[in-house]
Amino acid sequence: MNLLAVARRAGRELRERMPELASSSRMDLLAEKLVLEVLRDSGEFFVLTEERGALTLGDEPEYIAVIDPVDGSFNAVHGIPFYALSIGFADRSPEARVQDVHTGYVLNLHTGDEFEAEAGRGARLNRRRIACRRRKLEHSCIVTYCSPPGFRRLERLVSGVKRVRTFGSAALELCHLAKGDFQAFIDLRGYLRNVDVAAALRIVREAGGHVSVDGAGLGRIERLSVLACCSGMEDELRRLIQP
Ligand code: IPD
Ligand code: CA
Repeated sequence: MNLLAVARRAGRELRERMPELASSSRMDLLAEKLVLEVLRDSGEFFVLTEERGALTLGDEPEYIAVIDPVDGSFNAVHGIPFYALSIGFADRSPEARVQDVHTGYVLNLHTGDEFEAEAGRGARLNRRRIACRRRKLEHSCIVTYCSPPGFRRLERLVSGVKRVRTFGSAALELCHLAKGDFQAFIDLRGYLRNVDVAAALRIVREAGGHVSVDGAGLGRIERLSVLACCSGMEDELRRLIQP
């Protein structure tokens, strides 16, 4: 099955409907319904998805589809042009983990930019190769999320880099790390979910980035911590954020 073709079709159909969906209080559910219809029409899948959790489409699915229909829902609802559809695929196995997602697709639902990756085949933005771009820590721009218990660590992190940004769609932020715009993405909250980042983490890896996740499974929605960065920066960053 051409998994990226399935994801692109879902993306196309969702993007067309987005202006109308974004004005509904049921945006996430309706977006999910639309994506599930495309998947059902394309084959059999075990699905892990943000609103409905785990479900099976078909009798003997070969693949797991990990879906966040609108990552950055707050942005979408408020007209902030930074929100995305995220779909990752892994081979079906009860032991499958976020790291086993081999195909990732993230579509910026506002601009139409398509980030994609397949294991061992590199990462692409609108079909052109992209790669992480390493900088010295003091010249780096990083994306980070933090909540109160992590403020000490945040203080050290912010003092060690040049710029800090937070845009509100983890999937898209990770894709911009893969494109070379940021040098790191760090969630100090441990609050992200497997569905938010499964696809984008594959894209970062294929762009030559380093990814540490505390290993969520794909059988149900699970929270996880993420440190993703340009390869070679992980030790320095880890030193800055250690408790
Ligand atoms: C959210 C975004 C955001 C992250 C939150 C997620 P949602 O996803 O990824 O960047 O900070 O933890 O819940 O709820 O907009 O799909
Ligand atoms: Ca999300």
